[in-house]
Amino acid sequence: MQTLYFDLRDTKGPQKGVEEKISAAAKILRDGGLLGIPTETVYGLAANGLDPVAVKRIFEAKGRPQDNPLILTIPGQQWLPRYCRDIPPLAYVLARKFWPGPLTMILKCRTDVVPSIITAGLDTVAMRCPAHPVTAAIIREAGVPVAAPSANTSGRPSCTTAQDVLEDMDGKIEGVVDGGPCSVGVESTILDLTCDPPRLLRPGGLPMEDLERLIGHIDVDKAVTRALGAGEQPKAPGMKYRHYAPKAPVTVVTGAPDKSAQEILRRVKPGDGVICFDEYVHLFSAQEVHTLGPSGDKLAHSQRVFDALRTFDNSAVKEIYAQCPDNRGLGLAVGNRLKKAAGFHIVEADSARVVLGLTGGTGAGKTSALRAIESLGGKVIDCDAVYHRMLETDEGLREAIHTTFPGVFSLDGRLDRKRLGEEAFSDKDRMAQLNSIVYQFMKPEIDRLLADENYRLFAIDAINLLESGVDQLCDKTVAITSPLELRVRRIMARDNISEQYARLRISAQKPDEYYRSKCDHELNNSADTAEAFEAEAREFFERLVESIKEEKAHGEQ
Ligand code: TXA
Ligand code: MG
Repeated sequence: MQTLYFDLRDTKGPQKGVEEKISAAAKILRDGGLLGIPTETVYGLAANGLDPVAVKRIFEAKGRPQDNPLILTIPGQQWLPRYCRDIPPLAYVLARKFWPGPLTMILKCRTDVVPSIITAGLDTVAMRCPAHPVTAAIIREAGVPVAAPSANTSGRPSCTTAQDVLEDMDGKIEGVVDGGPCSVGVESTILDLTCDPPRLLRPGGLPMEDLERLIGHIDVDKAVTRALGAGEQPKAPGMKYRHYAPKAPVTVVTGAPDKSAQEILRRVKPGDGVICFDEYVHLFSAQEVHTLGPSGDKLAHSQRVFDALRTFDNSAVKEIYAQCPDNRGLGLAVGNRLKKAAGFHIVEADSARVVLGLTGGTGAGKTSALRAIESLGGKVIDCDAVYHRMLETDEGLREAIHTTFPGVFSLDGRLDRKRLGEEAFSDKDRMAQLNSIVYQFMKPEIDRLLADENYRLFAIDAINLLESGVDQLCDKTVAITSPLELRVRRIMARDNISEQYARLRISAQKPDEYYRSKCDHELNNSADTAEAFEAEAREFFERLVESIKEEKAHGEQ
């Protein structure tokens, strides 16, 4: 198929034929064809949104998974009631302020009118009114709403010029309309209005701060800031796919621009690729570099980010390192696109080290909580394991034990752990003696382990966290607690023991109340499954770590 090219970059000058081109483009849509269209965000691949056969061709041309719904694009808010029902007044408040513009709203779908292929079977529909005069004119002329995802092949970076569209779609679509380079450069912000408070599903060309200024607090879907764990579903199906991804692996480096540039410099090898701010280009003369513009110009970053990723798609670099703007304004969207390209492989250049101390009784869920820390990229230090290792290898500790418990070493110097246990458990004073020896050696060893530069987040797992003084090495301590009956059942299932024995084990330990009163925070586990608690714990720790970092940043200023 030949793809027609409509040059509509300049519609104001003396150029002739603007109206003819607009009608020819609109006719393609009316006839069930596919048309590349400019919008202020990125180029779209449009088809008549009421024609399921035409819409199906979009999925084929893009190679798009069938479960990923499309946005329905309309020329103004008057068209909303045709395709949506129970429209909340807030939708009109937002449309009045931000349409036409880079905001997509998720609303309840009017059944029957909107073909189910558009919504991928969901009962909600994404509605958008782009701010590009040429596209507005074409849609009005066509007289139909258009289904219009971004015009890239699925999985590739979005297109910000008509050339990009041709690169991906030439020969597969009837036409492309060139309206010049996109003025925003990242896709629209997607806001779900079917929940309360509204939820940000995808950061985009309309900064979240602008939304919050008008409508107050909005929730942020977890898929915006991090990779999802197994079994987690984003609310916008498209957010689950690895996206915008060049062929070479990408590492995103966050932090103040000076610091992130230095961090990249430490890591790059000759022939690698670098995406950086203008000020740092000179550092990377041995690398292939694409700039995002000056570090302070977020609009430039947003206009250039896809171009940088796209160009690297066609390059032979082995690895790509990208400087990441901060999360304010358009930075949230630019950072999200870079991080998705990196599969959320992120290095924090100047972030403070955060140390959490976790404690709590058996069966409360400490193991799941620790798994959550690991899934956040944190390192878990298991004090029990450290203690056992030290018993074998730490001469200082062994000598101190030898002095107080001479009988526990055999002639060849091997320590009889069982005997040590028996001696120590025989009476309270002996136990206290052993503990004080262990604690004295434990704390410096933990401190040494915390110096591991490969990690910025640590969790210290210790049942005696508070007694050992190891809590003093922590920024915050967290008590993992859980209702008694749940703990009993968990221990029974986990260790395959009787109810009576499970209760005995719990009562031999300190009660939740003890941990609760001594720790800075409490994380209570009343979840049905370990997976559910792990997901809760992850959100809890994410927030806690964020607040500790903020505290530290303010302390340093
Ligand atoms: O700026 C934009 O929005 C561009 C231009 C071309 O308008 N379009 C665009 O479309 O980015 P697309 O298909 O690449 O991304 C649409 C996103 C996908 O992540 C999809 O899963 C999500 O919107 N989406 C669509 N309908 C949805 C719905 N009913 N509920 C939740 N998410 C939805
Ligand atoms: Mg897309």
